[in-house]
Amino acid sequence: MKGPIFVALDTTDLERAKSLAARIRNHVGGLKLGLEFYSANGPDGVRAMGAFDLPIFLDLKLHDIPNTVAKAVQALSPLGPAILTVHAAGGLAMMEDAKAAAPRGTKVVGVSVLTSLDDDDLAATGIASDSHGQVARLTALSREAGLDGVVCSGREVAAAKELWPEGFFVVPGVRPADGGAGDQKRVVTPREALDSGASILVIGRPITQAADPDEAARAIEATL
Ligand code: C5P
Repeated sequence: MKGPIFVALDTTDLERAKSLAARIRNHVGGLKLGLEFYSANGPDGVRAMGAFDLPIFLDLKLHDIPNTVAKAVQALSPLGPAILTVHAAGGLAMMEDAKAAAPRGTKVVGVSVLTSLDDDDLAATGIASDSHGQVARLTALSREAGLDGVVCSGREVAAAKELWPEGFFVVPGVRPADGGAGDQKRVVTPREALDSGASILVIGRPITQAADPDEAARAIEATL
């Protein structure tokens, strides 16, 4: 991979995604396209983003019965994503089948616990364990299923890496040290996330909403 920064192009607007990618392509390691982009632009949109010659992270967070997820992975395979996500909560068989259906060159990564959920939210869905415990459990399950790695927060990646030293760890939600942490209590910087064991960093708004996205990407790259 070119570099650890995957920029999240969270937009429904294909032209905006293309113009952003054109500006930052030399200072990022890949492009992350999520459900928002895919719902609006579909496989053709993903193919169009392939023109930038950067690895594509297709973050669709698939979660369904094993057969359906495997068929969806098969259908996505011609797009040749470098990384594809499934929810680890979908279970062992679902993850095994997803991995088996993916092309050799595609890393299949399990989403552990969404960072939008706190321990109360987890409890409300019937999960008694706290988020750290749940991330650990789903990391172990993802490994057992033969996935390539997991998505987890910068606070959890060190523990996940300890459980799974060869795992591929995707860390979203990192914030540059100087970039308006806002009211966040504990911000993990890109450098800290890498030091804790992150394989790649997913960075969205600090780059995409910057007045000069290329300069923002370059500045983050310089801290790594
Ligand atoms: O916040 P930012 O714009 O950098 O988010 C980029 C991506 O990271 C989003 O597409 C989202 O999927 C993910 N994210 C996350 N947890 C957070 C913040 C962002 O998973 N706390």
